[in-house]
Amino acid sequence: MKNQNNTVYDCSVIDFFTVNNQAGNITVVENGKNTPFKVKRVYYLYDVPAGEERGGHAHYELEQFIIAASGSFDVVLDDGINFKTVTLNRPNIALHIVPGLWRELNNFSSGSICMVLASHKYDEDDYIRDYSKFKNFRK
Ligand code: TYD
Repeated sequence: MKNQNNTVYDCSVIDFFTVNNQAGNITVVENGKNTPFKVKRVYYLYDVPAGEERGGHAHYELEQFIIAASGSFDVVLDDGINFKTVTLNRPNIALHIVPGLWRELNNFSSGSICMVLASHKYDEDDYIRDYSKFKNFRK
């Protein structure tokens, strides 16, 4: 399976097209125009209690954009060898997470909103939730 060879260095930070004016900003995500994958699902995390962590899993096929729609949080990426921490704190910036990587989200600021644009519909069979299973997958 090719996705087991993806590394944290394959993940990039994207600055989405934004229209700024005095009355506020608009950021636009358009399937196929400024996205490397077609978005099939949008979900968002909010009301995350102080000190709580999210994520703690990998995906076989799913790729995602993670966006701090409000506030800030950190995303820790892990490919089994390398770790990379990305702080997200602006709504026009997205972290593109390629498939095959373990991720954890932490340091949520009060009132933060984590918006996720995902390449597939929800499928529990696409998750690796056990870290030793993940390490085995990466071998
Ligand atoms: P999970 O993806 O593990 O959340 P996080 O990575 O933010 O910690 O999902 C948490 C729970 O929500 C899990 O029981 C599956 C369920 N869920 C859905 O039913 N549909 C979805 O689209 C998502 C993202 C999660």
